Amino acid sequence: MHIRKAVIPAAGLGTRMLPATKTVPKEMLPLVNKPVLQFIVEEAVASGIEEIVLITSSEKKAMDNHFLPDPELYERLMKKGAMREAEAIEHAAHLAKFSFVVQKQQRGLGDAVYCAREHIGDEPFAVLLGDDIMYNEGKPVLRQLIDATEKYGCASVACREVSDESIAKYSSLAISPLEERVYEIHDMNEKPTPEEKLSNHAILGRYVLTPEIFEILEQTPPGRNDEIQLTDAMRVLCRHKRMVAVDFEGRRYDTGNPRDYISTFIDFALKDPDMGDWTRQFIIEKAKELWDR
Ligand code: G1P
Repeated sequence: MHIRKAVIPAAGLGTRMLPATKTVPKEMLPLVNKPVLQFIVEEAVASGIEEIVLITSSEKKAMDNHFLPDPELYERLMKKGAMREAEAIEHAAHLAKFSFVVQKQQRGLGDAVYCAREHIGDEPFAVLLGDDIMYNEGKPVLRQLIDATEKYGCASVACREVSDESIAKYSSLAISPLEERVYEIHDMNEKPTPEEKLSNHAILGRYVLTPEIFEILEQTPPGRNDEIQLTDAMRVLCRHKRMVAVDFEGRRYDTGNPRDYISTFIDFALKDPDMGDWTRQFIIEKAKELWDR
C-alpha cells in the first residue's frame, strides 16, 4: 500500500487558547518561529506524504495563506537582504501539494475526515490531528504507522497506554499483541467512562485509513458529545477487516491548552538550532533567580 495523501483536520475553535485564538487559528500558534501546523506537515512529508488536504473553517484563512506561495513577499525579503527568511517562507509553500476544504459545521472528527473524500478518492491515506505534535528524531511517528500498514496490508492507528484518569479523553482500544509494539485491534470506543473502557491503550493523533472508511462514515450517526466520531466508523472497520495499533516510539506534545503549550514551547526553544543555547542559559539564570527568592 502506497500512502501519498494526508488529511489534517484543523477546523476546531481553539477555545482553550482564547483570546489568542480569536483571530489566530490554534494550529498557527508558533513554537519559536514556526507554527505548530508546519511541524505536523513536516512530519507528514518526512513520512513520504506528497499531498495534504487541510480541513479548515471559513475564519481560518491564515492556514491556507501560510502554505501558499507569496512571490511578492519573497521579492521584498530578498531585496532587503533577508535571504534566510525568504527561503523559510518558500520552504513552507513547497513542502507538499496543498488543498483546502472548509468544514461548514463543527460536527466532529469523523465529519472533518469525511470532508476530504473527494480529494482522497479511492486510495489509503493518513490523518494527522492538527494540534498534536509527534516528535521522533529518527523515524517520524506517521512513518512508523505507514510501515505497519504496508507490512500488514491494513489500516493502522498510533496508540499509547495512558492513566486511568486520562483514558476518558481518548478512544480506548481492545487489542492483542502481534509483534513488539504492534497490536491487532478488536474493538474501540470514544471517550469511555471507567465502566466502558476497553483498556488503557488510547488512540493518539495519527491514523492510516483505507478508503472504505468514507462509506462507513456516511452511515455513522452522531455519537459521543453528539458528534460524528471517527472512532465509531473505525469500530465498524476493525470488526470486518484487520486493523492494527502501533505503540509508537517518540514523544507527543499537545499544544491545544496553555499548560502544554508552554512546556512544548520551552522544549522546542531548547531544541532550536539558533535559539537552543540562549534558551538554556536563560532558563538557568531564571531558575537561579527563582531559587534565591
Ligand atoms: C480525538 C479523537 C479521539 C482520540 C484523540 C487523540 O479526540 O476523537 O478518539 O483518542 O483525538 O488525540 P479530541 O482530542 O479531539 O477530543
